[in-house]
Amino acid sequence: MFNFCIFASGAGSNFIEIYRFSKKNSNKMKINLLVSDKVDCGAVKYAKKNEIDYIIVNVNLFPNAKDQETRIIESLKFYKINYIVLAGYIKKVPIKVINDFKNKILNIHPSLLPKFGGKGFYGMNVHNAVIQSKESKTGVTIHFVNKDYDKGPIIYQEEIPVYANDNAEKLSKRVLRLEHKTYKKIISYLINDKIIWNGNKPEIRKIYND
Ligand code: GRF
Repeated sequence: MFNFCIFASGAGSNFIEIYRFSKKNSNKMKINLLVSDKVDCGAVKYAKKNEIDYIIVNVNLFPNAKDQETRIIESLKFYKINYIVLAGYIKKVPIKVINDFKNKILNIHPSLLPKFGGKGFYGMNVHNAVIQSKESKTGVTIHFVNKDYDKGPIIYQEEIPVYANDNAEKLSKRVLRLEHKTYKKIISYLINDKIIWNGNKPEIRKIYND
């Protein structure tokens, strides 16, 4: 049984999908906590409605960065969290959390990293850049989080084509659908011990029927 904490700042569609998935797999996983920096984002609204515990950590409530870190660390301990899933979290994860949860934090990025990753590449910026660069394909990347933004070990990537009549808006919708599908798939591998380490590289165990 694994206890999960989701970090989210936005609409929360990935959070909602993962929450529903967790309900169907309640023998293996439970979402104990949502961490957000935005008091009234979609993710927090959903947590309230569904009685999922959440904490808000931002500069208004905790002007000192150290206090933000402490609040998060203490909550993760209190809720006995095993894995953290970043689902559209726009803040930097405090370094102590990254160190304490080495290879236990997942992130999803809406492009084929290392392309269109790093500073400034979030939300629609990513899809705009993909369109402007006339890429023929884009996709999603799921990776473990380390201290280097968008550069942690990649677990899984899946591509989709970029069509001639695509714009950033259309593309973002297709990529988001792909995010929902792939994030659940990888979390399912995780809770079923199908992600193994080959040195510094995470690999998905081959013999698995999904
Ligand atoms: C997703 O595109 C995710 O990859 C990015 O932010 C978006 C979050 O969407 N980091 P949602 O809040 O899960 O709907």
